[in-house]
Amino acid sequence: EGIIHEVLAPTDMNMNVMELVSAYELAPEGTIGICGGMAMCASCQCYVLNQVTLPERNDDEEAMLSEAFNVKDNSRLGCQIYITNALEGLEIALAPES
Ligand code: FES
Repeated sequence: EGIIHEVLAPTDMNMNVMELVSAYELAPEGTIGICGGMAMCASCQCYVLNQVTLPERNDDEEAMLSEAFNVKDNSRLGCQIYITNALEGLEIALAPES
């Protein structure tokens, strides 16, 4: 919705971006994390907006994004991005619901 939120994320809880967005209630209730983080729904699709280096998409993520809507080159599944110190400064936008 164009609203910018700056959040802190724990690096010691094996948490992923989808869980972080859910924890901060930044997506409408029931619209993110539908598959529970199994890379099977794309409800957590987000766009990476800056040059933070992320691990490559894994096979499950590639497969899900190949079937999802509104996919861009910078699309990722938030549930497949685990919070680490390397993500400091990561900027994302949530993909539109589809
Ligand atoms: Fe379903 Fe990420 S929560 S693909």
